[in-house]
Amino acid sequence: MFKSILLVGAIGVGSFGDYVAHELIKDPTHFTRIAFFNNISRPTDEAKKARIQELKAQGFEIIDAADYASPKAYEGFDCVLSFLGNHGLYLQPAIIDAAIEAGVRHFYPSEYGADITEGQNWTQRYYKYKVQTREHLDAKAQEIPDLGWTYYLLGRLTEWSVISHFGFDNKNAKAKIYGTSSGRQSLISAQDSARYLVETLKEPLSPQAKGRRRTYRISGSDPTYAEIFEILERVTGRKYDVTYLDVESAKQEEAQAKVSGDIDAELAASHKLIQGREGTLLPRPWDNDRFPQIHPKNVEETLREAFASERAKLVYGLE
Ligand SMILES: NC(=O)c1ccc[n+]([C@@H]2O[C@H](COP(=O)([O-])OP(=O)(O)OC[C@H]3O[C@@H](n4cnc5c(N)ncnc54)[C@H](OP(=O)(O)O)[C@@H]3O)[C@@H](O)[C@H]2O)c1
Repeated sequence: MFKSILLVGAIGVGSFGDYVAHELIKDPTHFTRIAFFNNISRPTDEAKKARIQELKAQGFEIIDAADYASPKAYEGFDCVLSFLGNHGLYLQPAIIDAAIEAGVRHFYPSEYGADITEGQNWTQRYYKYKVQTREHLDAKAQEIPDLGWTYYLLGRLTEWSVISHFGFDNKNAKAKIYGTSSGRQSLISAQDSARYLVETLKEPLSPQAKGRRRTYRISGSDPTYAEIFEILERVTGRKYDVTYLDVESAKQEEAQAKVSGDIDAELAASHKLIQGREGTLLPRPWDNDRFPQIHPKNVEETLREAFASERAKLVYGLE
């Protein structure tokens, strides 16, 4: 079991790593050392500075380093968890190498989404660097027999599933969705998902549990788009005007974005293909039952809270 853990990319306010950090520090007694990697060459803002001060004041360690690739920062940790966002995922092999050199033997790569081994996911642009990271871990495992990892899979985070990036115009109660009204996806709230993740850190790496190369599949429910819009309508009190589009037409959009060099547009088009083909439906069996003490909120409860939150205007484009 892990005693000393280092979180990379978990300081950014509102990021998934931030949710995990908040759950983790509620009961730190399980660990002897919890630290946060602060890449000092990365941009910072007042919110990030304040968060660093808050973590320090609560007694958590901040490891300042000018890049992710120097082993020193990873010394003394059993487990490194990466929460890097889409644009930082390509850095994970270098992080893994540096951490291995420092003696780390377990990684949580920044997965936290669909099962990338399912359907056509493995070859999609959106997952390029998640795939590369898994391949890198496999290659390293040939040299280092005690190397381990945890793939923590959840489908989609409910709060993120209805934002403009995925075709939702909440301000005008409209949506353009690639796929059909019966298309499904697996959803769980960010906070519940973070809670489950923290519990996985407490499970032993023994063969009686899941061993040292683990995959957890933990989600909440598999609603269709029709069900999601019914919920959104109850939550917002407005009827959504939804247009369903041919999934495969996103291939052209992806190709155009690639030519123009617009990476965000390329990722968005790639995600439409994944989503429209039900690539974010998390295959069963799920591992929720390992942690019966957690009772995840349903989609409606989660969206009610999210739309009532301070950040809703920003996150849901309601301004
Ligand atoms: N399944 C879902 O629905 C869902 C939803 C959201 C996220 N996720 C997953 O959760 C993980 C984190 O995503 P996120 O949206 O929370 O990430 P994010 O907010 O975009 O980024 C998290 C952190 O990564 C670091 N970072 C970002 N871009 C970087 C770059 N170009 N170079 C170096 N570092 C960079 C930053 O850390 P610093 O601030 O320290 O520089 C940032 O705060 C990803 O694997 C993502 O796929 C899944």
